[in-house]
Amino acid sequence: MNSSIAANTPYQFILWAEQCFEQANLCYGHGTDNAGDEAAYLVLRALDLSFDCDEVQLNQTLNEETRDYLAALVRCRIEQREPVAYLLGEAWFCGLPFYVDKRVLVPRSPIAELIREQFSPWAVAAGVSRILDIGTGSGCIAIASALAFPDARVDAVDISADALAVADENSRRYAVSDRLRLIRSDLYENLQEQRYDIIIANPPYVNAEELAALPAEFHHEPILGLAAGEDGLDIVRQILKQSRDHLNQTGILIVEVGNSQEALLAAFPQLPFLWLEFEYGGHGVFLLTAEQLEQDGNGVGVI
Ligand SMILES: C[S@@+](CC[C@H](N)C(=O)[O-])C[C@H]1O[C@@H](n2cnc3c(N)ncnc32)[C@H](O)[C@@H]1O
Repeated sequence: MNSSIAANTPYQFILWAEQCFEQANLCYGHGTDNAGDEAAYLVLRALDLSFDCDEVQLNQTLNEETRDYLAALVRCRIEQREPVAYLLGEAWFCGLPFYVDKRVLVPRSPIAELIREQFSPWAVAAGVSRILDIGTGSGCIAIASALAFPDARVDAVDISADALAVADENSRRYAVSDRLRLIRSDLYENLQEQRYDIIIANPPYVNAEELAALPAEFHHEPILGLAAGEDGLDIVRQILKQSRDHLNQTGILIVEVGNSQEALLAAFPQLPFLWLEFEYGGHGVFLLTAEQLEQDGNGVGVI
C-alpha cells in the first residue's frame, strides 16, 4: 500500500487518508462524524501531535518507518473497520485523552458538555459532594466529573471487571484515585445505602433491531456496553426504578438513552423527562430530579 502513496508529511497523509476514508465509505460516530476529522485524528495522534500543531510540524518530512506505520493504520481502519480510538489506544472526552481498548466502549457521550458546565443550571457546584457514574466503562464520565468537581467524591460502577481495569488505569493517569471509587456492581447492587447529589448514567440502550443493523465499526465494541434487550430499555428501567433510593433530596439523575428516547416516552408517559440540548451534537439525554422520581414513584415502582 505504502509504495503507491504520494504522501511524505503529516499534512499530506491527512489529505490522503481522508480520500481513502471517503472512497471506503466508512461509518463514523466514534468521536468524529466525517472523513476529514477522522483522518486528522488518526494521523496527528498517531504521530503524537496536538490537534492545533503548527505548520512546521504539519510539513515535516516523515521517515519511511513512520510512513509505513501510518499506512498500516489507515489500512486497518478501512479493512477491519476498526475505530481509530482502538487503533491508537486513545479517545478524547471533555477535552481529555483517555486510554481505551476493546474492553470498553469508545467514549463519545454528549454528557461531556454537561460536565464541562458542572451540570449548571441544574446543580449548584458548591452543593455537590457525591457523584455516581453508572456503567463507567473507561471511567471517562467519572474522571471528568471528579476533575470538574475537585471537592466531590465520585463512585463509578460497572458490571464488567475488564472495563473497571481500564477505568483504573485512567483514574491513576489523572491522579483522582483518592476521590474515585471503582466498584464492580450490577447497577446499585453493591452500593448499599449510599446517596448522591448527581447520578449520571450512559448505560447500554441499543434495542434488538438496531443492534442487528449496527455498522461493522461497532462490532469491535463490547456487546455489554450496547445491548439492552428488545426495546433498548432493559437497564434504563432498572435505573429509573432504583435511583430514587440513592439520590439526596435535591439530587438529579441524568441518563443517556440515545435513539431509545421514543420507546422510553411510550413506556413512561407519566414521567416529566427534561430532554437536554447540546451545542456540539447529541440527543436522547434526560434529566429527572429526585422529587420528580418521588412524585411518580408509583408509576416507576411497578415497572
Ligand atoms: C454505553 S457503555 C458507557 C461507558 C462509559 N460510561 C462511556 O460513556 O463511554 C455502558 C457500560 O455499562 C456497563 N454495564 C452494562 N450493564 C451493566 C449493569 N447491569 N450494571 C453496571 N454496569 C453495566 C457496560 O459494561 C459498559 O461499560
